[in-house]
Amino acid sequence: MASDRGTDSRLPGQRRRAPGETTSATASPEEPGREPPFLDLDRLEARARDRLPADVYDYYAGGAETETTLREAPDAWRSWRLRPRVLRGVSTVRLGTELLGSPVATPIGVAPWAYQGMAHPDGELATARGAAAAGALMTASTSATRSLEEVAAATDGSPAWFQLYRLHSAAHTDDLARRAGQAGYRALVLTVDLPLLARRHRDLRHDFALPAGLRMANHPGDDRPTLDDLATATWTFDDIPRFGALSGLPVVVKGVLRGDDAVRCVDAGAAAVWVSTHGGRQVDPAVASAHALPEVVDAVGRDVEVYADGGIRTGSDALTALALGATAVFLGRPTIWGLADAGAEGVARVLTALGEELAHTMALCGLDDVRSVPRDSVTTPR
Ligand SMILES: Cc1cc2nc3c(=O)[nH]c(=O)nc-3n(C[C@H](O)[C@H](O)[C@H](O)COP(=O)(O)O)c2cc1C
Repeated sequence: MASDRGTDSRLPGQRRRAPGETTSATASPEEPGREPPFLDLDRLEARARDRLPADVYDYYAGGAETETTLREAPDAWRSWRLRPRVLRGVSTVRLGTELLGSPVATPIGVAPWAYQGMAHPDGELATARGAAAAGALMTASTSATRSLEEVAAATDGSPAWFQLYRLHSAAHTDDLARRAGQAGYRALVLTVDLPLLARRHRDLRHDFALPAGLRMANHPGDDRPTLDDLATATWTFDDIPRFGALSGLPVVVKGVLRGDDAVRCVDAGAAAVWVSTHGGRQVDPAVASAHALPEVVDAVGRDVEVYADGGIRTGSDALTALALGATAVFLGRPTIWGLADAGAEGVARVLTALGEELAHTMALCGLDDVRSVPRDSVTTPR
């Protein structure tokens, strides 16, 4: 990936369209299917709901228990308020940054999410291509319907990370970590907020299982786990350097919501920490990422990269996270709805549109570089 692709984002009036995006010249305002000239995630989600089987839609959209964590996540970002700067002469905004040394064109990446083959026949390959087209970093999940080697090949040289769960046997898990290093991923993401699977009522009602015809492609033939088997209850801080050594990759610890835990991860050798509630699919009710992020950043200091996800739906949500000290943010469901809608192009469209929103909001706030968004760019309402 070219290091400076998409680095200077065009501001309104200079707007670049994503490949395949409907233009106002080709769609009349009366046309019922007309795309609005902004990212309408509710509409994308509604289309996915119409298109996908109910159990699949609910698996993607749902959360744990009362779904309080899930529901509160977007509003938690909006419990912060932006403090715009004036007269800063901002005419272009730089979205390009580096994540653990890998250049990316945008600080908005794709979070790992499972079973992408249910959303689109090309599954993870389409997501990888879409992310690469947008210059965004993709994190491939262990629970993929395509093998990690196939996904790595589909990124076509764009940086990607591999997210590790525990497989049925410790030996298989170790092997997966080694394969991730050999396949060219740039970091290993250990997801640690799944010591056991939470009660996800929608899935329990549907008795959800991977549909016939799809398989967990990273698992060897003799390893046929249920969702519960993926749980990482046996992992401890000692596994951070162990998996780092096995894979030869920097380790990112995903699912951290406390400053003290973040410090222990870094002390154990983690290269970065990822603040996440697993999209509201694990502890419920849990502190929102938007409220945990400042504590984690303060605890580890600005020299350690911290990422955040959960309920990021607008450019201002992303800007709030950057102001609170995140180096990058990641999207789960918005990329699911994009993939279900239009495959690789749908994923690219979501990522590009969110990047444009971020650039737009930054320009409105007198900010021109995602790498240096000052902490005092946000405040609490009172
Ligand atoms: C359907 C679905 C499957 C997921 N699968 C995984 C996974 O395999 N590994 C993982 O670390 N996180 C997984 N997550 C959590 C995401 O990585 C991410 O933390 C979350 O989706 C971010 O919240 P958002 O969906 O509100 O953007 C999953 C999330 C969803 C919605």
